[in-house]
Amino acid sequence: MKVAFLGPPGAGKGTQAQAVSRERKVPHISTGDILREAVQTGTPTGLKARAYVTAGKLVPDEIVVDIVAERLARPDCKQGFLLDGFPRTLGQAKALDAILAKSSMRLDAMLYYAVSDDVVVDRISGRRLCKSCGANYHVKYIAPRKSGVCDRCGGGLYQRADDKPETVKERLRVYREQTAELIDYYRANGLLKEISADNSVEAVRADTNRVLDAVAVR
Ligand code: AP5
Repeated sequence: MKVAFLGPPGAGKGTQAQAVSRERKVPHISTGDILREAVQTGTPTGLKARAYVTAGKLVPDEIVVDIVAERLARPDCKQGFLLDGFPRTLGQAKALDAILAKSSMRLDAMLYYAVSDDVVVDRISGRRLCKSCGANYHVKYIAPRKSGVCDRCGGGLYQRADDKPETVKERLRVYREQTAELIDYYRANGLLKEISADNSVEAVRADTNRVLDAVAVR
C-alpha cells in the first residue's frame, strides 16, 4: 500500500493516517511531524526549516524532498507507506514520481480529504497533541478523558505553535496557492480518490478504509 494523503490544514489527514498506520501496520510518514521534530531538536535541517514552519509557509522543496527520499529508502517502506502532507507542490509530486521510479515503484492512490473552510478553522483551533507520544486530540470532537492529559500515555497536551489564527490564515492561503493544483495533477493521472472530510472521524475512517481496500485488491 503506497498512498499519500492530501488536503488543507486541519482536514484530518494526520488523524486518519495515524489510525491506518496502527491498523494496517504501514509506516506513517508525516513531513510536518519530521520537520517539527527537527526544529525542536535544532538539527541542521531544523535550523533551515524553522522560519518557514513558524510563519506557515512551505519549506523549500529541496529540503523536504531529501527528507522523504531518505525516509522512503529505509527497509520498513519496502512493502508500503502512508505519506501525510507530502507532496505539497508540483515540484514535490514530480520528485516523488522520480524517487519511486528508481525503485520500480509508483503511488497506488492519492487520498484527497475535501473539507470546508469553517470546519478547518474549528478543527485547528481545538487541536491538542501529546508531548510524549504525539497522539492527536480535539477539545470538542476527540476529547481526552481528563482535560490536558493524554489517554494513552498520561503525557501533557499542547497546542501547536503554528495553530495560532494568523498563521492558520497564512497556511490556508499557501495551500490554495501552491498545493491545491495537485488535485488536478492526481486526477489527471487517475490516482485521486476524493473523501468527504466534513463528516465525523468514524465516517471519514470508514470511507478511507473503503478506498484503501479497493486499492489493496487491485
Ligand atoms: P503539517 O503538519 O503537514 O500541517 P498541515 O498540512 O497544515 O496539516 P495539519 O497537521 O494542520 O492537519 P491534518 O489534516 O493532519 O489534521 P489533523 O488530523 O491533525 O505541516 C506543518 C508545516 O510544516 C507546514 O505549514 C510547512 O511549513 C511544513 N511542511 C510540512 N510538509 C511540508 C511539505 N511537504 N513541503 C513544505 N513544507 C512542509 O486534524 C485536525 C484536528 O481536527 C485535530 O484536533 C483532530 O483531532 C480533529 N479532527 C480530525 N478529523 C476530524 C473529524 N472528522 N471530525 C472532527 N474532528 C476531527
